[in-house]
Amino acid sequence: VPIKIKNICCIGAGYVGGPTMAVIANQCPDIKVTIVDLNAQRIADWNDADLTRLPVFEPGLAEIIAATRNRNLFFSTDIEQAIAEADAIFISVNTPTKTYGSGKGMAADLKFIELCARQIAKVAKTDKIVVEKSTLPVRTAEALKDILEHTGNGCKFTILSNPEFLAEGTAVQDLLFPDRVLIGGEESLAGKNAIQALVDVYSKWVPEAKILTTNIWSSELSKLSANAFLAQRVSSINALSELCEETGADVQEVAKAIGMDSRIGSKFLKASVGFGGSCFKKDILNLVYIAKSLGLNEVADYWEQVIIFNNYQMKRFSEKIIKTLYNTVSGKKIAFLGWAFKKDTNDTRESAAIYVADYLLSEQATITVYDPKVSEKQIQYDLNYLESRPAVANIRGVSLGLDPYEACKEAHAIAVLTEWDEFVDYDWQRIYDNMMKPAFVFDGRGILDVKALSEIGFVCSVLGKSTMV
Ligand code: UDX
Ligand code: UDX
Ligand code: ADP
Repeated sequence: VPIKIKNICCIGAGYVGGPTMAVIANQCPDIKVTIVDLNAQRIADWNDADLTRLPVFEPGLAEIIAATRNRNLFFSTDIEQAIAEADAIFISVNTPTKTYGSGKGMAADLKFIELCARQIAKVAKTDKIVVEKSTLPVRTAEALKDILEHTGNGCKFTILSNPEFLAEGTAVQDLLFPDRVLIGGEESLAGKNAIQALVDVYSKWVPEAKILTTNIWSSELSKLSANAFLAQRVSSINALSELCEETGADVQEVAKAIGMDSRIGSKFLKASVGFGGSCFKKDILNLVYIAKSLGLNEVADYWEQVIIFNNYQMKRFSEKIIKTLYNTVSGKKIAFLGWAFKKDTNDTRESAAIYVADYLLSEQATITVYDPKVSEKQIQYDLNYLESRPAVANIRGVSLGLDPYEACKEAHAIAVLTEWDEFVDYDWQRIYDNMMKPAFVFDGRGILDVKALSEIGFVCSVLGKSTMV
């Protein structure tokens, strides 16, 4: 019998669960979607009447929430009820890298996933389709199935892998017009029926040709691989950026020239101070861990180099600042433009800004940050998470500027860490007038108009361009 999904529960109201479910609710008015989370504050924020206070900032998201919330999209802390009612349960909880024990710093910590499985098993009274949405190490589905089948109460659970490929900052567009939707499932009849039920949901707005169905392992591995490839492109162009700086080539010109080769493609070739975000590092570490545990050391080393180089790029950028400022930043104010890991998001997880700040703080710099979407509390949280120094030292060393002009006032140098569009259009003359001289700018994203800035009097250093312009 074909299955029709009428009621969806999503466990985890984060950067993936929130936008994904909002778009499903928007495109499928006949499906009731309930997003649940353990974190009551997060649910309260999603329910906030003031749409500027949603916990996730994404262009276009507030409008979709306004249209769907309390119509067929609900945010709740009543996890059990939502599970009991649902035909399909999406698991979108976070899967951080383990910070303890075996696989520490590499393997994914699956305890949140396991908790979800146990909760589903406990509550379910009817058959469920359980969908892995979070990126998980290959073969998690097997573990999920094991738990569900051995602790369940006779209900049938069919597990699907439906990895999410949205990028933050463009989540709504990516969800509305995905390059592809990937659904992995078992070959059995139950598996096929479940796959078809989920295909029917997506085909409400995604052309069928873009909906791929595979076996469950291919689906799980594809997600890790896609992120590993993307990150590898960034490390590749970043490796060239240093070569460009030393030779007189311009990395943006090189990127354009190689990107016009249709076999290479033009996207994802922006040299930067380093990639960040919750996925790239975690997913590659995961891939490396899986390869190592299978004894595939060459495979592991190949992918690990992508991360090693990214760490190097962040350090190199920090060292360049120090070297240029006459080998010391001690007691000097450095202004950061940007703290988020990319533009158009309030997410800061693994942002290069955190690591650059940490490095400069160890050299006794004072940092003032301006980011259009990031709070002081978040910045302190990110720094404290590294455990490099006591929290009071982070508070002393880093503060938030109320606006960009105040952040840059009396700074010895400005470092651009995020590519927010608004940075380009600031009144740079005004910024220059209030800075220490020489006024240095380190553009870690290659977005500023260096010619105009140099005419004002700035001394500019752009990642991937040779010499000080
Ligand atoms: C290459 C570049 O493609 C070309 O632009 C440049 O001018 C010269 O070098 P070529 O070496 O002639 O051209 O062939 P190419 O098609 O690039 O293949 C190179 C090798 O890679 C071959 O051994 C090919 O079998 C292998 N390859 C290519 C793969 O193993 N997998 C692929 O997906 C593509
Ligand atoms: C990524 C994948 O793109 C997405 O498909 C997956 O679902 C989750 O992981 P995300 O991390 O949100 O998405 O953003 P992405 O646009 O991929 O950027 C990741 C990092 O790479 C950012 O720090 C970004 O600034 C950096 N980056 C990206 C570059 O430095 N240069 C580029 O050319 C592209
Ligand atoms: P992602 O980027 O993968 O969406 P987030 O950290 O933004 O990650 O969101 C994951 C959410 O999942 C968090 O809000 C967290 O509170 C929630 N969560 C984690 N474990 C559980 C659980 N067992 N039950 C319900 N919610 C959970």
